[in-house]
Amino acid sequence: MTTDTSTGNGVKLDLRNVSIYFDDLHVLDDISFRLAQGDFVSLLGPSGCGKSTLLNLVAGLLTPTGGEISRDDMLVTGPGPDRSMVFQDDAVFPWYTVVQNVEYGLRVKGVEKKERRVKAQGFIDLVGLTGREDAYPYQLSGGMRKRVDVARALAAEPDVLLMDEPFASLDAMTKTRLQAEFLRIWEDSHTTVLFVTHDVEEALYLSERVFVMSTGPGRLSYQLDVPFPHPREESLRTSTAFQNHRAELIQALHRAGAEF
Ligand SMILES: Nc1ncnc2c1ncn2[C@@H]1O[C@H](COP(=O)(O)OP(=O)(O)OP(=O)(O)O)[C@@H](O)[C@H]1O
Ligand SMILES: [Mg+2]
Repeated sequence: MTTDTSTGNGVKLDLRNVSIYFDDLHVLDDISFRLAQGDFVSLLGPSGCGKSTLLNLVAGLLTPTGGEISRDDMLVTGPGPDRSMVFQDDAVFPWYTVVQNVEYGLRVKGVEKKERRVKAQGFIDLVGLTGREDAYPYQLSGGMRKRVDVARALAAEPDVLLMDEPFASLDAMTKTRLQAEFLRIWEDSHTTVLFVTHDVEEALYLSERVFVMSTGPGRLSYQLDVPFPHPREESLRTSTAFQNHRAELIQALHRAGAEF
């Protein structure tokens, strides 16, 4: 399936016929889609269909075997501060404290110390780590490290935010709260987001579009344009329309080969 609903104007991210092999293993095949500035797209799909690989390609950490990826009409040839990634396995710097990790992207951008401390503190508070600013990652739980990683990616204020199951390891309460806070941030900032999740409700609640990937090799097999306006409230999750779209996506995932 080729997905191209953007106008060509204000295209932030453009993937054209992207494929990748790891030796003989054909992981992604002919992936084409565009994200407009301020778009929020979620990727759902069976384990191993190539979701993380796709994010790594957009991050510039992998090079496609075929096809091209561009950001603002510039070919992606490697990583850059314009794209922040929250990795599936948390990727905080073990030798930095919480606040130093969160400040990292701002330091790379040359933001002066006082301003970056204030900004970093705001994101530390947001993810519920107030009081743990000077802790090192080894002193934190897995879920806390994940939250440091989310704060780090948000604080960097990138053009494109790449998030690989960022809330998967969190307890239900923290997860719901961070989803709501993250949605508010997106509603305010309109950062372009490409978001990977296994959680159908999370994809529906947060995104403007949901792509379902099938496996062997990974392809885009289904697209849903999420019709819910903003601001979205918690109560949306229990509405009939939400539940109907949830059922539609679960069916698409079944067809794509995912077990639910
Ligand atoms: N660097 C690599 N070298 C060789 N094979 C790889 C590499 N990275 C990923 N793969 C393979 O590519 C396929 C897709 O992996 P990927 O991590 O992208 O899947 P995923 O959709 O993110 O899965 P999950 O939902 O379990 O996170 C898998 O078969 C994996 O073994
Ligand atoms: Mg993955």
